Amino acid sequence: TYEKLWLVAAMVLIVGFIATITYGSVALGITMVGDQQETVEPTELNDERFSDPRVAQVGENEYEAYVTAQMFSFQPDPIEVPEDSEVTFYVTSRDVIHSFSLVGTNVNTMVIPGEVAEMTVEFDEPEEYGVVCNEYCGPNHHNMEGMVHVV
Ligand code: CUA
Repeated sequence: TYEKLWLVAAMVLIVGFIATITYGSVALGITMVGDQQETVEPTELNDERFSDPRVAQVGENEYEAYVTAQMFSFQPDPIEVPEDSEVTFYVTSRDVIHSFSLVGTNVNTMVIPGEVAEMTVEFDEPEEYGVVCNEYCGPNHHNMEGMVHVV
């Protein structure tokens, strides 16, 4: 019947959409796990983590990356994490609003002074991702770059 045909057509479309989304993330070897817009108050974190921003191993394949943005760089640079890892980024700003965006991925968050942006990302394979700032932050905004090395 026509009704059945429509149902099949709808199913094919849905599977197609899911495949497209899945392929998109798998192809890049990167998957967003956490809510990229989630923020936590800096008082909930030890401020020392941001005075010496770095990557800390917190589980077998789990890492926490403490990152600061300021005119016109990110620290640490590069951010080095191993493949097959799940990395939670905590990103804050020392001065004005920046963003922390991994080129060619959907990893992108605003970085607001006084707040900590939190997002969790799975890195499946060795890759180099450029980090850029997408918020205008001053005369050298367009040169504000960093790097994530998945090794
Ligand atoms: Cu930092 Cu634009």
